[in-house]
Amino acid sequence: MLSSLIDPTGRHISYLRVSVTDRCDMRCVYCMAESMQFLPREDVLSFEELLRLCQVFVKQGVRRLRITGGEPLVRRDIGPFFEALGSWLHRPEQMGALDELTLTTNGSRLSHYAETLFNAGVRRVNVSLDTLNPERFAQITRRGKLAATLDGIYAARKAGMAVRVNAVAMAGVNDDEFDSMLAWCGEAGVDLCLIETMPMGDTGEDRTATYLPLSKVKKDLMQRWTLTPLPDRTGGPARYMRVEETGQRIGFITPMSHNFCDSCNRVRLSCTGRLYTCLGQEDGIDLREIMRAGGDDQAILAGIQDAIARKPTGHSFLLGDVSGRVEGPARHMSVTGG
Ligand code: GTP
Ligand code: 5AD
Ligand code: SF4
Repeated sequence: MLSSLIDPTGRHISYLRVSVTDRCDMRCVYCMAESMQFLPREDVLSFEELLRLCQVFVKQGVRRLRITGGEPLVRRDIGPFFEALGSWLHRPEQMGALDELTLTTNGSRLSHYAETLFNAGVRRVNVSLDTLNPERFAQITRRGKLAATLDGIYAARKAGMAVRVNAVAMAGVNDDEFDSMLAWCGEAGVDLCLIETMPMGDTGEDRTATYLPLSKVKKDLMQRWTLTPLPDRTGGPARYMRVEETGQRIGFITPMSHNFCDSCNRVRLSCTGRLYTCLGQEDGIDLREIMRAGGDDQAILAGIQDAIARKPTGHSFLLGDVSGRVEGPARHMSVTGG
């Protein structure tokens, strides 16, 4: 079934990213400021409210849900939330057809949750890991522990989930590690995905100084590794290549140097119930307001359709170009989970 949620340029919305909290136990330099003001709890949707909104999307043909944050696994009772969503998998007769339930996590609590997630139906997980050096990890995340994230990755593999490591590529910070990370990922049996930094929200750091276009990185890696392009674009932003030496994949996410907006299949729901139709724009609609005013599912759907009819054709980030200007939304990535 194709999604019935279609924007005016013909893009089918089949993928919903859901941020369940803006909180996080880390403060990565490219994502958050050292001191963050988090939202009051009453502004954040309850799990019942989140499930209700997700259900409206799934009934309209959204097939993939990715749970994000902040850090999704710091939210209390997240286990039963995954179990509730997982019960919609592969049951077209009841809920529409949810094909995939995934999450993006910093891994700090993944060893604790790996089995619960697998039992709920999660089969792949993206784990943020920018370095294999413990001191560097502490510097980049400002308060994370490398060992906990590595334990999380091993636990996820052991539980039966595929893992993709997400590494934000930063000049002068971790660009001397991509070879060792590729080798490590090969041994651990996980994919690696390099990401260009996006200018979202003030983090108190100069992201221009560390911006690294991935075309350069790819060229450099190809001198030492045999990378074969893989055709399968799954509608996500990553372009993948097979690393012949390890059998794993490497992905490149290039929102700055080569955007992928023309094939965008996604919208995102913030933890306050605001629907954002583009990561890099403010456009959207407050679904919490409709829901808390007593609106029925039809009213929620009308709001969603309205917002999708206004989905921007693309984001307009500026960073690392010749003008030297930096431009992006004032909100932090943690509000919508990337
Ligand atoms: P898939 O579900 O496999 O497509 O994963 P993903 O790559 O979308 O998810 P993940 O949460 O791991 O995000 C990796 C990076 O991609 C993060 O930096 C996200 O901000 C970025 N990203 C995801 N979707 C979009 C998008 O629509 N636009 C832009 N500009 N960046 C995105
Ligand atoms: N630019 C690019 N990627 C980011 N992430 C967080 N902030 C940024 C940013 N400013 C990544 C995290 C995580 C994913 C959800 O988004 O590393 O893997
Ligand atoms: Fe937390 Fe992820 Fe942001 Fe790091 S990138 S501060 S782990 S939400």
